[in-house]
Amino acid sequence: NDLSLVRNFSIIAHIDHGKSTLADRMMELTHTVEDRKMKEQLLDSMDLERERGITIKAHPVTMKYKAKDGNIYTFNLIDTPGHVDFSYEVSRSLQACEGAILVVDAAQGVEAQTVSNTYLANDNGLDIIPVLNKIEMPNADVDEVSQQIEDILAIEATDALQISAKKGIGIEAVLEAVVERFKPPEPAKDQFTRALVFDSKYDAFRGVVVYMRLFSGALKAGDKVRVMSTGEDYEIKEVGIFTPEMNKCKILEEGSVGYVIANIKDASEIQIGDTLTLAKLPAPDALPGFKEIHPMVFSGIYPVETSDYEKLGASMDKLRLNDASFSYQAESSIALGFGFRCGFLGLLHMEIIMERLRREFNLDIISSYPNVEYRVVLKNGDVQEVDNPMYLPDPTMIEHIEEPMINATIICPTDYLGDMMALIMDRRGSIVKTDSIDGHRVMLTCHMPLNEVLIDFYDKLKTLSRGYASMDYEYANYQPSELVRMDVMIHGEVVDAFSSIVHRSKAEFRGRQMCKSLLDVIPRQAFAVALQAAVNGKIIARETIRAYRKDVTAKCYGGDISRKRKLLERQKEGKKKLKAIGKVNIPQEAFIAVLKTN
Ligand code: GTP
Repeated sequence: NDLSLVRNFSIIAHIDHGKSTLADRMMELTHTVEDRKMKEQLLDSMDLERERGITIKAHPVTMKYKAKDGNIYTFNLIDTPGHVDFSYEVSRSLQACEGAILVVDAAQGVEAQTVSNTYLANDNGLDIIPVLNKIEMPNADVDEVSQQIEDILAIEATDALQISAKKGIGIEAVLEAVVERFKPPEPAKDQFTRALVFDSKYDAFRGVVVYMRLFSGALKAGDKVRVMSTGEDYEIKEVGIFTPEMNKCKILEEGSVGYVIANIKDASEIQIGDTLTLAKLPAPDALPGFKEIHPMVFSGIYPVETSDYEKLGASMDKLRLNDASFSYQAESSIALGFGFRCGFLGLLHMEIIMERLRREFNLDIISSYPNVEYRVVLKNGDVQEVDNPMYLPDPTMIEHIEEPMINATIICPTDYLGDMMALIMDRRGSIVKTDSIDGHRVMLTCHMPLNEVLIDFYDKLKTLSRGYASMDYEYANYQPSELVRMDVMIHGEVVDAFSSIVHRSKAEFRGRQMCKSLLDVIPRQAFAVALQAAVNGKIIARETIRAYRKDVTAKCYGGDISRKRKLLERQKEGKKKLKAIGKVNIPQEAFIAVLKTN
C-alpha cells in the first residue's frame, strides 16, 4: 500500500455549477463505470436527488487513474451536498480529504455557496484547485471569474483549469492536477487504527453501512471494531470500496476510503464524525471533529387520515435508520390529532423528509407551522429550551427569550442592492458589510434571526432579484429578542396547531393574516363564529364568520337530483373528519388549507 499513489479529495461548488457532471466525466475517463452503465449524475442515487438536481447525501467513489507519469493512482472522490442544510455533511466529507476541487461556473461567477464551501475547505486545511466550468458557453468570462476567485476567495487563479464538464473538455487536466497538486495522505504516527465516519446508510438486509476514511491502521472482516463515542464493540462482517456501488474487498488499509458493515442495527448507534478503532488495540484518542448535530427547525407532522398514525410512526423509525439527523417524538394536537414533533437541520431537510414519507411510504401528511428552538430564561434563573410554542412558560415567569441567529452571505447584482437591504431589514436583520465583487455584483454579509428566513425568505430573495441572488448561511449565536406567543382562537378556543412564537412587531400582521385565511376556509355554522388572534390574552386581530343555515343543497334550486345526492354524500363524508373546537365543527381540510398557505 503505497500512500504516495493515493489521493483523497472532494469537489465543492455552488448548486448547479456542475459538480456532479464533472464527477461523472472523471468516472468515465478512469473507466470506473462502463459506458453502458453510465447515466447522468451517477452519484446522485436517491430518486429525489436526481429529480431536484441536488445532492443530499455524500457519495464516495474510488477510481484508478493511470497518470502521465506512468503510475496508477487510487483516487477517492467524496461527492458533497451543496445545500446549507447539509453543510455538516460537507464539513465531515472535507475532513476525510486532503484536497478539494473548487468548481465555479464561468458564466455565473462566484456565488454564495462557492464562498461558504471554500471557507469550509480552508478551515479543514485542504489544498484547493480552482476549476472554471461551462467555458463553452457564449457568456462564459474566464478572466472576470478568475479575478473574482482571487479577490473574494483569495485563491491564486491564474492557473485555474478551464473545462466543460458537459462537453468533456479539459477533464484529463483535472485528473493530472489531482495527482500533482494534492498531497497524498500522511503516514500514521502510531500503530493504532483510526477511521473517520463521514456518513452511514441503512440497508434492510445488511444493517448499517458505515462510510469511512481510514487515517491509520487497517480494517478487515472478522475484526472487532469499537465506536469511540459510545465504547460499543461490533464484529466486522465485510469491508469494501465504492466503485461507486459497494465492492467487497479483503482489507482496507491506511489512507483508504470505503465502507464497513458490522452488526450495527440502527443508524443512531453511530454518529457522523465518530472514530472507529480496533477493540483489541484501541486508539487512546479519537480523531478531531466529533460534534453532535442539532436540529434547528421544528415542526409537527400529522397524518391526514387519523388511522395512519401507527404507520407514520413506523415509517419515521425506518427513515431515521438512514438519517440520524432527523429526530421525532409523539405529540398530539387538538386540531390535528395524534402526530409527531420533529426536528430538522433546516427547511430543505424538512421538505425532503416530508417528501420521502409521502413517496416512499405512501403517506398523506401535513405539517404545522415550522419554528426554531428558543432559549427561555426564567426569572428564577432556569433556562428552558422550547421547540413548541405550546410549551412556552407563563409570560409572567419569563425574564427574557433568546432566539437563534445566523450569519448570511448574499450575492446579488448591484441593481438589486436596495431591495435586498430592505428585505433584510424587514426580516429584522442587520447588514454587517457589503463588498463589491466586480462592477455589477455585491456581496452582503448580514446577521439575522433564523426564524425570519424559515418561511419565504429565499423565495422573496429570488423574486426580488429575478433569480440572480444567491444565499448561504451558518448558525451564529443566540440573542435576546422581544418574542411573544401568538395564539389563534376560534369561537374563544385556542387552536394549538396555529400558535406560533413571533417578534412583537410582527404579531399583529401575522394575526390578521391567520384570521383572514381561516375566514376563507371554515364553513359557516348555525351561529356567528369569531376568529381572533391574541398575544398574552390581548386580542390583536379579529374576523367573524357569519351564521348560515345548514342546508347544503339549497343552492341547487331543486333541479339536478344527482348533484344534490352527491352534495349530501360529500357532506356525510365530511362529517367523519370534523374536528370539534369547542362548539364549532371544522373539517380537517380547513386546518390543512391554512397551514399550507401560511
Ligand atoms: P448540485 O448537485 O445541486 O450541487 O449541482 P451540481 O453542482 O452537481 O451541478 P450538476 O452537475 O448537476 O450540473 C448542473 C447543470 O449544469 C446541469 O444541467 C448540467 O448539465 C449543466 N452543466 C454541467 N457542466 C456543464 C458545462 O460544462 N457546460 C454547460 N453548458 N452546462 C453544464
